[in-house]
Amino acid sequence: MRDAYIVESVRTPGCKNGRGLFKETRPEELLSFIMKACVDKAGIDAGEIDDTMIGCSFPEGEQGINIGRIANQMAGFPESVSGATVNRFCSSGIEAIALAALRIQAGWSDVTMGGGVESMTFVPMGGNTPRPHPEYANENPAAYISMGVTAENVASRYGITRQECDEFAVNSVAKAAKAQEEGLFTEIVPTPAYRSVEQADGTFKREQFLVDKDDGVRAGTTVEGIARLNSPFKAGGVATAANSSQTTDGAAATLLMSLDKCEELGVKPIAKIVAYAVAGCKSDEMGIGPVFAIPKALKIAGLKVEDIDLFELNEAFSTQALYCSRELKLDMDKVNINGGAIALGHPLGCTGAKLTATLLANLKRTGGKYGIVSMCIGGGMGACAVFEMV
Ligand SMILES: CC(C)(COP(=O)(O)OP(=O)(O)OC[C@H]1O[C@@H](n2cnc3c(N)ncnc32)[C@H](O)[C@@H]1OP(=O)(O)O)[C@@H](O)C(=O)NCCC(=O)NCCS
Repeated sequence: MRDAYIVESVRTPGCKNGRGLFKETRPEELLSFIMKACVDKAGIDAGEIDDTMIGCSFPEGEQGINIGRIANQMAGFPESVSGATVNRFCSSGIEAIALAALRIQAGWSDVTMGGGVESMTFVPMGGNTPRPHPEYANENPAAYISMGVTAENVASRYGITRQECDEFAVNSVAKAAKAQEEGLFTEIVPTPAYRSVEQADGTFKREQFLVDKDDGVRAGTTVEGIARLNSPFKAGGVATAANSSQTTDGAAATLLMSLDKCEELGVKPIAKIVAYAVAGCKSDEMGIGPVFAIPKALKIAGLKVEDIDLFELNEAFSTQALYCSRELKLDMDKVNINGGAIALGHPLGCTGAKLTATLLANLKRTGGKYGIVSMCIGGGMGACAVFEMV
């Protein structure tokens, strides 16, 4: 099997659901912008792309009707470029990149794009009209369980304390705030956003402005400051608004090529995808998914945890991120070096693609060779992709 090379990987900023800077910007606008920006940065003609695979956790409403295809048309890609929407909840973005890579590895395509999008402002978590199967929901309520409740289950089953959760959250925010100050989020492309502005005659006009940074980072967060917050998920629980991932709007895109195509187009590859694995676990403790997915992917890659230079381990909740890091004996100096989803947000179906862009930028800057993107997944799964810089 031949290798799939990543030649560009970018993201929009992540902005807070409902109140953030993207609250009036539709998901197709975020996605089509970042897809085009990805192609432009790579310096290739969009007509070279065979197919685009786009992760989205709730592909309905404004992000329905196959947003993968709609966005590549809105981006101005030629009509020959096909597009699909991919859903595996929180890993949708990395699933889409893996599928895009597999097409190249199989020899079915030479140039593909994988990415992700989620506007949690436009389409809420759970979707607009959740309709669990009535009898099956009685038989297996955990299949439809709230993610916050699973975070509390992880804490109570595995002895994760409120204090550690808050310390983990404070650390995530501190790293993100420092990285923002130092301009380390080089994978972000300043993204056009829209707002309705009242005119002198009382009508509203849609005006464009640029967003160039993640807007949810609460610099100065302290353990004492967040101690007052209660768990919205369980009376006396440990998962709070400050130590859970923020709900966020954003989009990300990664362009992949075969080596032959890189040479033909004179494009320099950044990295290759070495392995991707997904593993199932109990639905009511879905947060522990990476404990199974990371070893599974490492085995495929023929690598050990110690070989990995950097991890982007999605912080769905402090409870599960702490448990997974501990169980896998991760060196915390290598994990989420610029902060994680607690500080920067977790735009569900975009996250895998967002973390890929962040990981590759960090590996490039630090000179690392191997990196991992991993996350837990609603329904009870974990996903892990291993990348190697070239
Ligand atoms: C936990 C959750 C419900 C909180 O949502 P929210 O109420 O909209 O969060 P907010 O940002 O408004 O914060 C709530 C409160 O906490 C406070 N807060 C949050 N972070 C804080 C921080 N770092 N420092 C101080 N206060 C903080 C806010 O100021 C606010 O206080 P107020 O009510 O007095 O104004 C939501 O973020 C969530 O569901 N997260 C998990 C998402 C998820 O499940 N994703 C899938 C994972 S698999």
